[in-house]
Amino acid sequence: MKSSVRVVPLERVSAPLLAVALGELSSDKVPSSLLSLDANLGGELARMLAAGDFTGKPDEVALMYPSKGAKRVLLVGLAKSEEITRGAVRRSAAIAARKAIEAGAGAMAFHLAPETHGGVTPADFGQVVVEGVEQGAWRFSEFRSDDDAKKRLRELEIIATREHRSDVERGRKIGAAVAVGHRLARNLQALPGNVCTPGYLAAIARELGKAYGFKVTVLGHAQLEKLGMGALLAVAQGSSQEPKFVILEYKGAGRSAPLCFIGKGVTFDSGGISLKPALNMEEMKYDMSGAAAVLGLFEVLGQIKPKANVVGLIPATENLPSGVAIKPGDIVRSHMGKTIEIVNTDAEGRLILCDALSYARRFKPACVIDAATLTGAIVVGLGSHAAGLMGNDDALLDEVRWAGDLAGERCWPLPLWQEYREQIKSTIADVKNTGGRPAGSITAGWFLREFVDGFPWAHIDIAGTAYTDADRPDLPKGPTGIGVRLFTQFVLGRTGG
Ligand code: BES
Ligand code: MN
Ligand code: ZN
Repeated sequence: MKSSVRVVPLERVSAPLLAVALGELSSDKVPSSLLSLDANLGGELARMLAAGDFTGKPDEVALMYPSKGAKRVLLVGLAKSEEITRGAVRRSAAIAARKAIEAGAGAMAFHLAPETHGGVTPADFGQVVVEGVEQGAWRFSEFRSDDDAKKRLRELEIIATREHRSDVERGRKIGAAVAVGHRLARNLQALPGNVCTPGYLAAIARELGKAYGFKVTVLGHAQLEKLGMGALLAVAQGSSQEPKFVILEYKGAGRSAPLCFIGKGVTFDSGGISLKPALNMEEMKYDMSGAAAVLGLFEVLGQIKPKANVVGLIPATENLPSGVAIKPGDIVRSHMGKTIEIVNTDAEGRLILCDALSYARRFKPACVIDAATLTGAIVVGLGSHAAGLMGNDDALLDEVRWAGDLAGERCWPLPLWQEYREQIKSTIADVKNTGGRPAGSITAGWFLREFVDGFPWAHIDIAGTAYTDADRPDLPKGPTGIGVRLFTQFVLGRTGG
């Protein structure tokens, strides 16, 4: 999608749809910035506000047809003025984009009424409008031949005032970069397991490296054996797809310690010998959502080239049952050297991540953040409204939460108290890979922590937030691309950008 910032009176916008975001007003009079637009509407806006049919509450929409200028005017509610945040504006833009697509509009314009801009700065406005429109307008039609699925929003004009134009433009550029990475992540998530294999993820990483000029290394079976990545190899052994371990290295800050991001890349999780039930098992193609977030981040890095060093690690494999698959009771040796009793082959995410965590040591990272669709328990605990957050460093956890809040990807902390560690002690090996039903997300976090050595680390459990099975007004159902915006915000926070 193409985006641009324009300085033009609202009544002269010519797009097929002009969205105007408006918060709750203190009176039912038309705000002065919308008076000339209302003239094109023959006073309909004034009558609508007077009737109390549009009050500026979140998610409220009203469609109108002016006699001149834009073909449609869509009012979108924001919130009360003290609640008008980046998130509220992003959400209104997403809602507007969904409406634009429904209406078959190939282009839209977006304006935020200055009377109700809340605390959102012009630069933030430029950024979150592009992010929101991309979020709402995303569609995946690669495997559909009907025309309806091909409807696309191709162009976004952000309407700004002359004095704010350059600030809005600065934000727009970041938003556009984030949007490209976000789209990549969601497209990868949407691909079925027979297309998006470990090798496919590796090929995408290589393409990114080539396009943006950063180093990408892909380790295959033989190298993983040499490195002693026994936990990753154990998960992979039931599949005919070769596992891949992908290393992306973006350098934008000389010799400073890198920020390291790890993404779980299980391209299909059947559970293995501990087979999952059939109902909704197809959703387990999304078990590579953490990997998609890391690849999306690297696309954003390539676009905005921040002054930071960033390492991305993606352990990628399928988890399938077969005559040569790992079995409950098997014991494997991890890359770090600790032995693992595999009690349940469906707890495979932590097995591939533990080898990535110990591999991360060689980069002497400033911090390591992993994103993984790790546990069904986090879906039970937090549903789809927040990701679970755990780690070994309170300052880092606060920073991740800050980034998540700004990015509209909230994280909520869970404790890694020593008491929980007892649950993953094994009688026959150093650790076992499940701790039973109680506190399932925390014991998974503890398992990972066993392999964290010498760096601040945060773990984000995105099993409940990586995809949605319900349509939301601001988010079509399917993959959410979660992580791309949070990771980007985290990197920008570290570089002061
Ligand atoms: N990929 C799943 C977790 C998951 C569940 C992701 C629901 C998305 C939606 C993970 O590999 C898994 O199977 N976890 C098990 C662990 C258990 C066997 C200890 C789970 O949560 O049931
Ligand atoms: Mn599993
Ligand atoms: Zn899994």
